[in-house]
Amino acid sequence: MTDRPRIALYPGSFDPVTRGHEDIARRGLQLADRVIVAVAEVATQVKRPRFTIDQRLDMLAQSFAGEPAIQPARFSGLLVDYAREVGATLVIRGLRAVSDFEYEFQMAQMNRALSSELETVFLVPNHDFDYLSASLVREIASLGGDVSRFVAPHVAAALKGP
Ligand code: PNS
Repeated sequence: MTDRPRIALYPGSFDPVTRGHEDIARRGLQLADRVIVAVAEVATQVKRPRFTIDQRLDMLAQSFAGEPAIQPARFSGLLVDYAREVGATLVIRGLRAVSDFEYEFQMAQMNRALSSELETVFLVPNHDFDYLSASLVREIASLGGDVSRFVAPHVAAALKGP
């Protein structure tokens, strides 16, 4: 062990950031001195994003304003390369249900194959959020439903926009 600050990456699409994501990022501070919430320009599961990367980063910055140990950032290319670049030794992912496991396990093993020094840890969200996903939030909002319990007010407002 060294005295170097421990940096964790919490990567994802964050399209948009939900209360569940916020919970996992904060829990990450139990394991690391700094958590970089890293918005991927290239996501493994190809999706048509609702928000641009800049909009997603702006929402993350508002969610974690006043929490300097949680830092939103963007990255392009491979997660393992970005981890090396910023000196991160941990990757944090949230695990909600068994259905998440296969995809998460595959990514964790693949990232380990690409970079053996990078450790993936799974954090379980508060049970209030374990059914929550950004895609369901997007769908509910697009159909006029109330998402105020699932996202921060600034995100709910953005979801009402074009
Ligand atoms: O929230 P998501 O969309 O499930 O997050 C997936 C993400 C962004 C963590 C994954 O797609 C990723 O790490 N993308 C960066 C490119 C990369 O490293 N791909 C190889 C993954 S094994």
